[in-house]
Amino acid sequence: MSVVDDIKSRLDIVEYISRTVSLKRAGRSYKACCPFHNERTPSFVVDPIRQTWRCYGACSTGGDVFTFAMRQNGWTFAEALQELGKLTGVEVRPRSPEQQAHDEVLDRLRGLIKAAAEFYHERLLDANDDEAVRTLNYVRQKRGLSDETIRTFMIGYAPPGWQTTLEAFTALGYDEEDLIATGLAIRNDAGRVYDRFRNRLMIPIRDERGRPVGFGARALAAEDNPKYLNSPQTALFDKSHLLFGLDLAGTTIRQQETVVIVEGYLDAIQAHQAGYTNVVAQMGTALTETQLKLVAPRWANKIILALDSDAAGQSATRRSLEVARETLQADYGGRLSVDIRILTVPDAKDPDDLIREHPEQWEGLIAQAEPVADYVIAMEMADLSPQASLQERAALARRVLPLLLASESNLYRQDNLQKLAFKLHIPERDLLAWAQEQQTIDALKARPRSDTRADTPPPAFAPEDPDWMLAGEPYAATGSAVSNPPAAHSPENALERDCLRLLLYQPDLIFHINRKFRELAKNDPALLAGPLNDLCLDDFSRTEYRILAGVFNEALDQDEVEILDYMRGQLGGELWRELERIIAGELELLRPRLRHGLSVDLETVVSASYRTHGVPDPIVQATEKALRLRWQRLQRERQEMQYLQMDAAETENEVEENYDSYIMLSTMAQRLIDAALLEQKRVKRS
Ligand code: UTP
Ligand code: MN
Repeated sequence: MSVVDDIKSRLDIVEYISRTVSLKRAGRSYKACCPFHNERTPSFVVDPIRQTWRCYGACSTGGDVFTFAMRQNGWTFAEALQELGKLTGVEVRPRSPEQQAHDEVLDRLRGLIKAAAEFYHERLLDANDDEAVRTLNYVRQKRGLSDETIRTFMIGYAPPGWQTTLEAFTALGYDEEDLIATGLAIRNDAGRVYDRFRNRLMIPIRDERGRPVGFGARALAAEDNPKYLNSPQTALFDKSHLLFGLDLAGTTIRQQETVVIVEGYLDAIQAHQAGYTNVVAQMGTALTETQLKLVAPRWANKIILALDSDAAGQSATRRSLEVARETLQADYGGRLSVDIRILTVPDAKDPDDLIREHPEQWEGLIAQAEPVADYVIAMEMADLSPQASLQERAALARRVLPLLLASESNLYRQDNLQKLAFKLHIPERDLLAWAQEQQTIDALKARPRSDTRADTPPPAFAPEDPDWMLAGEPYAATGSAVSNPPAAHSPENALERDCLRLLLYQPDLIFHINRKFRELAKNDPALLAGPLNDLCLDDFSRTEYRILAGVFNEALDQDEVEILDYMRGQLGGELWRELERIIAGELELLRPRLRHGLSVDLETVVSASYRTHGVPDPIVQATEKALRLRWQRLQRERQEMQYLQMDAAETENEVEENYDSYIMLSTMAQRLIDAALLEQKRVKRS
């Protein structure tokens, strides 16, 4: 059991909160006026079963006993851990002695690598050494690096000779074994110890926090192989966990929410020199999951892969893309949570050459970077012979479809589906069917075997994932839940999430919403059965929201268990967590990101706005959002319909008329909704 769980198991949240807040029993839970904002009617609820608290009022936030204690006392998570540990008698030990010893070794090795980086850097600047002067000239003139860049990246020079570095450092009192352990020196089979890096340009590789952990060493003589000699895998240096330049690029990546990944160290250095400081470099291998997770979706929601145009680059690219897709395809519909684009530098140049010659062209290239699906389709197509058999073409389609489906926008997907159908001579209908097959499988994978006997109590509120409970706190910024936020960037998703959130808070709102739809339909059976039917899963486009909406409706149709308990029983862990994220709202999702970026507290702004404009009436708010949601659905359906219609026209299908009348009806419904929304606005203003 983790320390957090141990503390939670000993500290009843009702008991803890009632020390400072006077809680009143209300059915299954306890209520009070929220201690975190001023109010007259209680909207602060403590759930003894789930051991959670939540303010349904202006705060619209909640969590577990830790988040409560942190918020109430202004503690950091570490402080809350200490304090609640004391309170419950759970020992919160800092680290084990072994752990401490290990940390000391790492610190020592880091010290050595740092000293080595400084040593090499000084060697490069040694005006009395002819070789060094020649190397410095190469760096300045041939590579076009300024002295400032040379300093910022601490570029250095490893002198020739077999033991120059070794002797310099042992003379300073460093241990030979440590030189070997950091990869600076090598011991051969005969037991002889010698320098790994000789007559090379030294590029220190630093971790995210700017600590040197290894080197990329470029050959200076044409006959020296390999061109780049990297540090070996050591306790400090693990290529698959590092991105070159991240220490310098982090801030810009967070600001722009975009990261550019180039192939070479010097590409990244050149980009930084030109002021493009959101650029990092791969480590000479295909991208790994760990590398991607360093930047996305943690800091960036857009990744641009800048690739060399040679063939070798392409197969590595293909691998990197596969990894990116698997890593970032966090949601159930198989959609990418991050926008991935491909930038190809024209004329077989690399970013380094391009930026040195035409730094102003970089931004244009970034803006034109191709969506990953387009790129993959083009790349796959380039290899397909015109005589390819149906099997070959179908295999290609199945390879490409997952990536194609992973893109966010429906229209974009349709467009690509069309392109693919055209190029492969496979009917779109087949492609669509395969695609849907795949999506259904993915969605089902996320759903558990359902076991919903009413007498089995639902498990407590996600105790298996304490990270999530603390998602609003900065400490958890690297936690699993925060690193996979729902793709909340498109307004459509935000609206869908808002609607779901309102409904989950106050399920009764659904009846007001459906009443509004019926009112608009004015008893027209066609409208009631079609475009103005009750709110349902079709109003949502994201697969996971569709599932949640469906299960929500199921929950309404039964009356044995509370709605959320019913849903908990039906949903898999992932989906339940998604539901929690929805309930927790955007504030908590945004807070870890905004904490460093904004000087004002978002919640202060929100509650100030509530004070001026009044807390929105939930019914008005929910119906307005539902109307807009329905409008979007009709729009989406109509586009799909027109698409099918085109298809039908080609195959001379007769169902065409049905499409026509559906389009007419839904247009009518959209007009009614427009009018209703206008009316609401008018009422609000007056
Ligand atoms: P490139 O050969 O494209 O080198 O390798 P580059 O960065 O453009 O270097 P210049 O411009 O010729 O000086 C790209 C990356 O692949 C890795 C390195 O990380 C390099 O930055 N690489 C390349 C190796 O690890 N070993 C090699 O032998 C070559
Ligand atoms: Mn290059």
